[in-house]
Amino acid sequence: MRDNKNIPHPSLLLHFFLGLSLLMGRARPDPDPIQDYCVADNRSPSPQPFFINGKPCIDPNLAGPSHFATSALSKPSDTKRLGYNMSTTTTANLSGLNTLGLAMARIDIAGNGLVEPHLHPRASEVITCLKGVLLVGFVDTSYRLFTLQLKPSESFVFPKGLIHFVYNIDSVGRAVALSGFNSQNPGKQAASLATFTSNPPIPDYVLEKAFRISESDVERIRKNLSG
Ligand SMILES: *[C@@H]1O[C@H](CO)[C@@H](O)[C@H](O)[C@H]1NC(C)=O
Ligand SMILES: *[C@@H]1O[C@H](CO)[C@@H](O)[C@H](O)[C@H]1NC(C)=O
Repeated sequence: MRDNKNIPHPSLLLHFFLGLSLLMGRARPDPDPIQDYCVADNRSPSPQPFFINGKPCIDPNLAGPSHFATSALSKPSDTKRLGYNMSTTTTANLSGLNTLGLAMARIDIAGNGLVEPHLHPRASEVITCLKGVLLVGFVDTSYRLFTLQLKPSESFVFPKGLIHFVYNIDSVGRAVALSGFNSQNPGKQAASLATFTSNPPIPDYVLEKAFRISESDVERIRKNLSG
């Protein structure tokens, strides 16, 4: 019989540490590759007969330099619709990225354009301003804002999973930035879209309570965001 009630039962401890290691496992970046490379086989049958973490690889003997090169970020993209546009390299246009835990993006932002507050669930991001002046910022979990202006060739880091934004402070000139991510599939979730335009929608009364706004406010915001 154990008489010290303050010492947790060993199986409880085991559960605690197992739980902790599981959680920490989830917070890690993409897993390390177990081969030099695994060039994504983008011709895999569709619908896929099986699902793995990443993409299947082509025969390594068929891999060549072109699998590790891309011009996907060379062209400016159309910013008319949202005021900004983002071209991302994925395993679809840079197949050599598969399993390496990397992605890149080119961001074109029109005058006074805003990449709205959003987060990347699977990656930290380092953004480099190539052209223009950008106001960048992120908010940590104590709701502290870290913000400053970036001039060409200056860089800023958005830590993984934290809400951040990028704003072109010039009202006329286009700004261009290049970003790197430590995941081949960083994901993107915009705070405004996740709350107001999810499918199916979050009930109005939940949003009214959360933001202390009226039903017509909810309607107006939903309408503005879906335009
Ligand atoms: C690269 O492929 C992704 C699809 O995975 C696509 O969304 C993106 O627009 C492509 N980028 C370019 C510049 O072609
Ligand atoms: C981004 O730019 C591409 C190419 O210029 C264009 O086809 C696409 O519609 C644009 N996306 C948005 C959301 O504006």
